[in-house]
Amino acid sequence: MTQTKNDSVTLTDNRNGKSYTLPLLDGSTGPSVIDVRKLYSETGHFTFDPGYTSTGSCESKITYIDGDNGILLHRGYRIEDLASKCTFLEVAYLLLYGELPDAAQLEEFTKTITYHTMVHEQLSFMLRGFRRDAHPMAIMCGTTGALSAFYHDSLDILDPRQREISAHRLIAKIPTMAAMAYKYSVGQPFVYPRNELSYAGNFLQMMFGVPAENWKDNPVLTKAMDRIFILHADHEQNASTSTVRMAGSSGANPFACIAAGIASLWGPAHGGANEAVLKMLNEIGSKDRIPEFLARAKDKNDPFRLMGFGHRVYKNYDPRASVMRESCHEVLDALGKRNDPLLALAMELERIALEDPYFVEKKLFPNVDFYSGIILKAMGFPVEMFTVLFAVARTVGWIAQWKEMIEDPAMKIGRPRQLYTGATERAFVPLSGRG
Ligand code: CMC
Repeated sequence: MTQTKNDSVTLTDNRNGKSYTLPLLDGSTGPSVIDVRKLYSETGHFTFDPGYTSTGSCESKITYIDGDNGILLHRGYRIEDLASKCTFLEVAYLLLYGELPDAAQLEEFTKTITYHTMVHEQLSFMLRGFRRDAHPMAIMCGTTGALSAFYHDSLDILDPRQREISAHRLIAKIPTMAAMAYKYSVGQPFVYPRNELSYAGNFLQMMFGVPAENWKDNPVLTKAMDRIFILHADHEQNASTSTVRMAGSSGANPFACIAAGIASLWGPAHGGANEAVLKMLNEIGSKDRIPEFLARAKDKNDPFRLMGFGHRVYKNYDPRASVMRESCHEVLDALGKRNDPLLALAMELERIALEDPYFVEKKLFPNVDFYSGIILKAMGFPVEMFTVLFAVARTVGWIAQWKEMIEDPAMKIGRPRQLYTGATERAFVPLSGRG
């Protein structure tokens, strides 16, 4: 972060005629920020920004989004390059440590993650305490938070080695817990991780393997899974990441913080959108009903929104959606489902929406979730698991952001203020005098 000499913004308070000078800070790219840290002490005013549409909450070196041009960079590398030329574990290393690994570093990192994929056996008993019909995201919130009750030896957030160990544990164990949540819901035995498989391959084998037969890796599906993980690995200061940072700012342990992130991700406006896209496509049902649903999406009196469209930051095609669309075709081809009616419906919906003046004017483009539901369904994942897969992938982004925050000497507990519009002080009325 740099402060260019004399670059500032002047604010005049019309109530008292006083002027205040606020410094402008520059990052390495992207818009400058107005440094309002001393605003309250100097002016007695707070800023007001519900939904944080104009607020930079932290300094970060991990991910950069240029929403107008549809560009997403992790540590400076384009998502399209990472998705086509790297494995998920390379991207995970990049997010955590700042550089792409060389061959030896990747080998060591892969081994570290691979050898920590098993969870404490007691955790499986805890998981069995859930109802069979529990939503797997509910199970994920519970079991991830519970990791802090199993791994006491990596809870000291002030110890850099313990921070690293908990980061590795989270990345390694989250797919195992996700697969266990699924197996539990379908009444199949838990499948243990296998160290010789890749991160994505191992996850698929824990999800879809059964003890009764040998697991056969399908390279097209494993590659698609790996790519889906890469595309969801991090995305700057979104709702769940900000939740992780906020929870962590109080000094809470990393397992509890990631559980908080999972809870935030669950909502349909965030990670739950791919589940919502599929429900929406099923509801639309056929191409001739698209205009009816588009009209509903545009109607201000109807809460319906076109799921998988629009983004707080992207005012252009989400670059992740382009890669996802390509993967979707690859997977459906490989599975012989090229004529999948949902894919045909989605493509037609996209085509019509992109030509519709409402969507053009508001710059609403398909986001990462528009195609991910179709590809995941084709791979055999039940709809309830979609957001879980997002959580598996995003865990690395969350923990990298959490680590960065803890290591930032300027870190403070997150404590926003408010514009209070409730009752002012009034005299207490005893129960006998009320009503
Ligand atoms: N369908 C219809 N209208 C929309 C949509 C949509 N999907 N998205 C935004 N709009 C309209 C909205 O009504 C508003 O209109 P107006 O200016 O007339 O009030 C305008 O576009 C701006 O929308 P906003 O709600 O102010 O934008 P936001 O930045 O607060 O919301 C969003 C972003 C992602 C929550 C929203 O676009 C949305 O609800 N999309 C559908 C859900 C979805 O696909 N979410 C996945 C996001 S990507 C995955 C992730 O990173 O989590």
